[in-house]
Amino acid sequence: MKDSLLQSLERLRAEFSGQLADASDEAKLLEVKTEYLGKKGRLTEVLKEMGRLSSEDRPTVGAKANEVKEFIDAQIKAALEKSKSAAIESELAKDVFDITLPGRPEVLGHLHPVTQILNLSRDLFERLGFATHTGPEIEDDYHSFEALNIPANHPARDLQDTFYLKGKNWLLRPHTSTVQIRVMEKQKPPLRMIAPGTVYRSDSDVTHTPMFHQIEGLWVDEGVTFADLKGVLSLFVQGLFGESVEVRFRPSFFPFTEPSAELDMSCFSCKRQGCNLCKGTGWIEVLGCGMVDPEVFKFVGYDAEKVQGFAFGIGMERLAMLKFGITDLRLFFENDIRFLKQF
Ligand code: DAH
Repeated sequence: MKDSLLQSLERLRAEFSGQLADASDEAKLLEVKTEYLGKKGRLTEVLKEMGRLSSEDRPTVGAKANEVKEFIDAQIKAALEKSKSAAIESELAKDVFDITLPGRPEVLGHLHPVTQILNLSRDLFERLGFATHTGPEIEDDYHSFEALNIPANHPARDLQDTFYLKGKNWLLRPHTSTVQIRVMEKQKPPLRMIAPGTVYRSDSDVTHTPMFHQIEGLWVDEGVTFADLKGVLSLFVQGLFGESVEVRFRPSFFPFTEPSAELDMSCFSCKRQGCNLCKGTGWIEVLGCGMVDPEVFKFVGYDAEKVQGFAFGIGMERLAMLKFGITDLRLFFENDIRFLKQF
């Protein structure tokens, strides 16, 4: 009895080994496992016979049975593992992708040239103590014109080809001067502010686009003079174009400043000899400015007897064109990567 059971166990092991070698995938391996170790499996059947053994034979057969069970277990486990990695290997071998190819580099963009100039300008003014403010792009007539001393029917309104929205009270702001009014309405003097932002005019040619960017500036305090205006704006222009650049102030007209001026800088390209860039004059027009008209202070409730101020407005695209040597303004907004990449 004992010997025949020992023999059965050995046979079982041998047959199992043969079947294992033929099992080609995971499903087959699990089938084999059940066939031997399952509840009604072949090893289980042999173990049932053990009840009929004498007590002295039982340990020997028991030990053998355990050994065979552990053998089968270990073999199945190892084979399952092997079949898993073989499955991965064969997936990889299918040439779905080539893991040896180098990765695609991330394409990094950079700031738009106009944004670069805007940030640079903002930085220069912030260093001089100007705080940045913003205002709405859809404005009313009052903040766009009226409070800036441009009454209805005043010819100065013709200077700006405004986009009106539904009737004449709402419009796309034609300049950032609107923000001066909005800030002064809310804040008492002293005040030192800039307002960078998008503005709109019905205009389109080599030097005009219907949408462009400005920085508005305003400094109000007791005793602010034209000398302060000249100092601040000279520092700004030299900060952008270099200290060797000279500036001059030419009389001009804006309804919201009195006196008003246009700031020109000496042509950095020809050093005032006269060239294409400065149209032979040696000077390049950069921005508009002036002392705040007392009428504007009246609109916002400032005491014009007590405070004075100066204001300025700068076109960002124009500065970017000068700085980067670009001759057609429209290129900025065509979003051609080949163009933008250069700056
Ligand atoms: N608002 C003017 C424009 O868009 C620019 C300007 C000129 C603003 C003189 C000012 C200023 O504050 O003082 O053409």
